[in-house]
Amino acid sequence: MVVDILTLSPGYFASPLQEGLIGRGIRQGAIRVRIFHLRDFTSDRHRTVDDRPYGGGAGMVLKPEPIARALKFLGQALPGPPHVVLLTPRGRPLDQMRVRELSARPRLTLICGRYEGVDERIGAAYCHDQLSIGDYVLSGGEPAALVVLDAVVRLLPQVLGSPESQVEESYEDGLLEYPHYTRPRVFEGQGVPEVLLSGDHERVRRWRRRQALARTWEIRPGLIREESLAPDDLKIIREIQKCGLSDPHRGV
Ligand SMILES: C[S@@+](CC[C@H](N)C(=O)[O-])C[C@H]1O[C@@H](n2cnc3c(N)ncnc32)[C@H](O)[C@@H]1O
Repeated sequence: MVVDILTLSPGYFASPLQEGLIGRGIRQGAIRVRIFHLRDFTSDRHRTVDDRPYGGGAGMVLKPEPIARALKFLGQALPGPPHVVLLTPRGRPLDQMRVRELSARPRLTLICGRYEGVDERIGAAYCHDQLSIGDYVLSGGEPAALVVLDAVVRLLPQVLGSPESQVEESYEDGLLEYPHYTRPRVFEGQGVPEVLLSGDHERVRRWRRRQALARTWEIRPGLIREESLAPDDLKIIREIQKCGLSDPHRGV
């Protein structure tokens, strides 16, 4: 997979591209990340990338021409057209399903905005998608590009060890994940739920499912679509609705 990032701060990516899973993915050759400075696609002496908004108001807007020039260049530089994504707080929310879709693309181009954002005509004419990483406003699209990149890289088959661990993870089945414990057995007076020490795999599986359902119900009820739950899960939800069940130390 090739990911191209258009930015006004190429240096922002120097360390993240070497560290952690992104660094590993690049070293393994699972992903190639190329950073392009928007100013390199300007045509005037001052390398101007922004201008005042039509209609007045505070702040500057990223001009369309340098971005369009960069996208045309990238479109021709490698075979296969890239999937072009504009990062913007006005975009569709990024979620695990969209990350999965992006991770299946051979080429991805991420446009990082700045100031008041990008001239609307870029989104309309050049972008296949506009994505937001959350309901808050960043000062630039670079952290958002790194969020997308990190989430995508860990889904590439060569990069993360076990596919089972991904299946169980938060959001993969529409639920938040169950809680985890490791040694010591007692930490500052808090023990580990007895069921996890029992060695009974079926009880552990049931406890984890119940915890995942309970946590999701309590923290993100909007994620639960009752019509798509299995009868056993629905039974658990009814119990949780009746008596609450977020305490991990309660039995299965
Ligand atoms: C200060 S923001 C622009 C905010 C814009 N004026 C608005 O209110 O929608 C500058 C840039 O940061 C990036 N950005 C800010 N928040 C973001 C978010 N939640 N998700 C993705 N990108 C974001 C975008 O690339 C945006 O163009």
